[in-house]
Amino acid sequence: MRPSGSARVAGVAGWPVGHSLSPRLMASWIEAAGIDALYAPFAIAPDDARHALEALASTSLCGLNITLPHKETALKIADEVSEEAKAIGAANLLTFHDGRISADNTDALGFMQALADKEVQLDNRPVVVLGAGGAARAIVFALSKAGVSEIKIANRTRSRALDLSRALEIEAVIVDWDQRDDALADAQLVVNTTSLGLKGAANLDIDWNRAPANCVAADIVYTPLQTEFLKRAAQNGLVCVDGLGMLIGQARPSFEAFYGVEAPKTGQERALLEAILGPAP
Ligand code: ATR
Repeated sequence: MRPSGSARVAGVAGWPVGHSLSPRLMASWIEAAGIDALYAPFAIAPDDARHALEALASTSLCGLNITLPHKETALKIADEVSEEAKAIGAANLLTFHDGRISADNTDALGFMQALADKEVQLDNRPVVVLGAGGAARAIVFALSKAGVSEIKIANRTRSRALDLSRALEIEAVIVDWDQRDDALADAQLVVNTTSLGLKGAANLDIDWNRAPANCVAADIVYTPLQTEFLKRAAQNGLVCVDGLGMLIGQARPSFEAFYGVEAPKTGQERALLEAILGPAP
């Protein structure tokens, strides 16, 4: 259906925003659900983010997904903040109603959904998180909420790992970056949340031979989809969860928040996004 004058309109705001996969993904769900709706990209320059977001909130838009670098600003301008967004310190979802702005964060949910899609069941063995930036905070929050009893965080800048654990009020084990391989011995899951492996960046060097055979490897990077980190894990026979799972997983609750209906399970999400991303290098 083509959108009418009373279509529900939502979008994604970021800088840059041209690379965002959300417009295509959301459009495919809008089409499959057959609803009168639209989802558009909004490029918002960093200097102007606060004003621009507040102005958009005062229109008929029903909400926005928020991507880099506006996730903290989005949190600051909100009238109501969910427990997740507050703990993670960033919002990837704003909804607008009656002149009020509500902030939420669906990244943690997205990560858990990506694990569930691969039938990964967490037990009481340690999880190793590599990195301590914004993405790590969402993932560590998700893992601690899921009841993981031991979370080990290895970050190049050790103090940031400590800050993250304090901010979430959890007792994570802080591992020196150079000792990260030592942390793999009894790990059930190892998650890369650093930007290493991203197209154009250096690869994340890790010795998968040190990890147990039933360990799971997860990467938040999805350009390329098969990072060296995952490629080597797969060569060692490990189950791999790539960055697209989290991307699709965080988008579903946003769709429902904007349009009031569940995102249809088309089964085509992965194929659609893989076609946009292109073949692995
Ligand atoms: P995001 O919000 O996407 O997580 P970020 O806050 O910039 O982004 O975090 C990037 C992460 O990648 C950090 O953990 C960073 O380590 P530092 O805290 O030491 O900066 C990590 N990272 C980036 N480049 C790296 C490199 N060359 N080696 C190791 N870690 C790196």
